[in-house]
Amino acid sequence: MNVSGKKALVFGGTSGIGLAASKQLAALGANVYAISRDPSRAGDVPKGITLKQCDVLDRDAVRALFEELAPFDILVSAATGGTRARGTFLEMDMDGFQASFAKLWGYANVLQLGTPHVSADGTIVLVSGSPARRSKPGQVAIATVGGAVEALVRAVAPEIAPRRLNVVAPGAIDTPMSSLKGAEREEAYRKQTAKNLIPRAGTADEVAQAILFVIQNDFVTGTTVDVDGGWLLS
Ligand SMILES: NC(=O)c1ccc[n+]([C@@H]2O[C@H](COP(=O)([O-])OP(=O)(O)OC[C@H]3O[C@@H](n4cnc5c(N)ncnc54)[C@H](OP(=O)(O)O)[C@@H]3O)[C@@H](O)[C@H]2O)c1
Repeated sequence: MNVSGKKALVFGGTSGIGLAASKQLAALGANVYAISRDPSRAGDVPKGITLKQCDVLDRDAVRALFEELAPFDILVSAATGGTRARGTFLEMDMDGFQASFAKLWGYANVLQLGTPHVSADGTIVLVSGSPARRSKPGQVAIATVGGAVEALVRAVAPEIAPRRLNVVAPGAIDTPMSSLKGAEREEAYRKQTAKNLIPRAGTADEVAQAILFVIQNDFVTGTTVDVDGGWLLS
C-alpha cells in the first residue's frame, strides 16, 4: 500500500509508539487521525495529523467515531487500554490481573467495530509485546494479555481477508509508558535489557517502522513482527 493520500486512524496515537506511527504515516502523506482519551498530551503535532478524543473501552463512543470518520484505509491500535498488573503469578492480585485485559477488550472493540469501515484493500495493525512469547518472572499479566492479542489477530485475519491484519510485538521501548525519570529511568532500562542481544531500550520510531512495514507490504497478513532487540533469544 502506498500510504500517500490514505486515511489512517491510530488509537493510542497521541503518545509513544502510536504517536511515532502517526508521525511516520503523516510524513508519507497519509491523512492521520490520532486518537486517545486525552489527545492534548500529544502536544503540537505536524501537518497531516488531526487529534480526536475517544476511550477504546467505550463501545458507543468508538462506534460513533468510526461512523464519523468512515471509510478509512489504515486502522492501528496501540492503546494500552488501562493498567497493567506486575508480579509473579502466585502472589498476583487477581483483580489487577483481570483489569490488565482492558488492553485486549480495547483492541477487540476497535477491531470489531472498525473493520467493516476499512476498505477492501485496507490494513489493520495491533501492538502486543515480547512477553507474549518469552515471559520473564513478574510478567504473567502482560504475557497472557499479549498472547491473547496475538491469538486474536491470527484468528480474525482469515475471517476479514482480503483486508490485512497484523501485530507488531515490541520489546522494552523507551516511551512515556514509563514514568521514571533521569538516572532511575536509565538504570531500569539497563536492567531490563542487559541480557538482550541488543542491550538497550528500543525507540518508539523503531517500532513504528515495523508498523509502517506491515501497512505498506501487501503480502503480509496474520503475522507477528518482533522489534525487540533480541528479547526472544535472551
Ligand atoms: N513501551 C514498551 O516498552 C512496550 C513494550 C511492549 C508492548 N508495548 C505496547 O505498545 C503499545 C503502546 O505503548 P506505548 O509504550 O507507546 O505507551 P504510551 O506512550 O503510554 O501510549 C499509550 C497510548 O494509549 C492511549 N490509551 C491508553 N488507554 C486508552 C484508552 N482506554 N482509550 C484510548 N486510548 C488509550 C494513551 O493516551 P490517553 O492516556 O490519552 O488515553 C496513549 O496515547 C501498548 O499496547 C503497550 O502495551 C509497549
